[in-house]
Amino acid sequence: MSGNGRIALVTGASRGIGKAIALGLATRGFDLVLNDIAAQAATLQETAAEARTHGGRVIALHADVSNKAQVQAMVADAVAQMGTIHAVVNNAGILRASDVENCPEDYWDSVMAINAKGTFLVVQAVLPIMKAQSYGRICNISSIGGKHGAPEQAHYSASKAAVMGFTRVLAQEVGPLGITANCICPGIILTDMGRVNLEDAAIRDAWKAKTAMARIGAPEDVAGPVAFFCSDDSAFVTGQTLNVDGGIVLS
Ligand SMILES: NC(=O)c1ccc[n+]([C@@H]2O[C@H](COP(=O)([O-])OP(=O)(O)OC[C@H]3O[C@@H](n4cnc5c(N)ncnc54)[C@H](O)[C@@H]3O)[C@@H](O)[C@H]2O)c1
Repeated sequence: MSGNGRIALVTGASRGIGKAIALGLATRGFDLVLNDIAAQAATLQETAAEARTHGGRVIALHADVSNKAQVQAMVADAVAQMGTIHAVVNNAGILRASDVENCPEDYWDSVMAINAKGTFLVVQAVLPIMKAQSYGRICNISSIGGKHGAPEQAHYSASKAAVMGFTRVLAQEVGPLGITANCICPGIILTDMGRVNLEDAAIRDAWKAKTAMARIGAPEDVAGPVAFFCSDDSAFVTGQTLNVDGGIVLS
């Protein structure tokens, strides 16, 4: 074993928040299984190479988290190569903006399939492993959009609310097995996805004005709280949802 002896799977790890989470876990001694879709192969390899500079074992595996067969194969491959999985961060997600009246059915289906069903499928695949070792840390990335939401994101909000509800019940089911399950709700974070909320300066300034810390979040802001939920410092914390949003006041 190297580092802290723990192995974490991070989905959607090629860029943005997932990349920052991967590097944050690497600096804290985790070995890593980094996932993304095949189309992101080159950037995922770059993230993996950067994570390896912190000294741990890092592998990169492609899978679409909304595809059960691919998820099952990824988890089997991860266990074959790394031995086990101690922590999972369900970070992969998409945002496709549309108002409700004009929202194409495939926007609803794809957003729900990746954000909500993808989280379920990855959890379902790792549970037998965590159960067998009586240990697991599950951290699901929801969003403040799942609590409050914004126009043109009703389907995204629904998918992220689903992640929170799923996590609360999951925590009750797996608690007796030594497994915790918690959610992080990032606020407005500057990533490829976050730019949708930040396209013009007036919108950016409005978000800053609503934020106690008076700035837009960076992907690295999310990494520490996720690492907490992946560690033994949170051993008696489960079923919780933590905003990581710089103190956004939406009311
Ligand atoms: N950026 C924000 O402001 C913000 C706010 C709240 C929540 N979030 C959530 O944080 C997470 C990361 O978002 P981000 O801003 O880094 O977005 P991003 O678009 O920069 O990165 C998302 C990553 O997920 C991957 N991905 C997409 N579909 C996938 C699939 N089917 N299987 C595997 N990987 C897939 C993408 O390839 C990409 O690497 C998402 O769940 C998002 O909903 C983001």
